[in-house]
Amino acid sequence: MSIENLDSEWQRAAGIADLAEGEVIAASAGGQRIALYKVEGEVYATHDICTHEHAHLSEGYLDGCEIECPLHQGRFDIRTGKAMCRPVTQALPVYPVKIVGKDVFVMLGQAQ
Ligand code: FES
Repeated sequence: MSIENLDSEWQRAAGIADLAEGEVIAASAGGQRIALYKVEGEVYATHDICTHEHAHLSEGYLDGCEIECPLHQGRFDIRTGKAMCRPVTQALPVYPVKIVGKDVFVMLGQAQ
């Protein structure tokens, strides 16, 4: 697929080479800070701010498909955004991801 075929709502967030297996990074798409993850070759994107208080999940600890918040150790499933343990109770926005060539695109308007 070429970039020309992408819907205008898709925003470039990073290069695929910026993401190492099993790691989380902070990225920016459409002026919004997000977190990108790579687990078993799949790339996932979520909002970067914890739903509990103001902490950057991109600075947290990635354990399989769960991100642990660095502030109070709340956990989210990065595939669904589901809050997995207290103190987090509110789900995290997750975004569809598309890889085009060497770039990672996310659709911010489609948060789930
Ligand atoms: S700020 Fe994330 S668990 Fe409290």
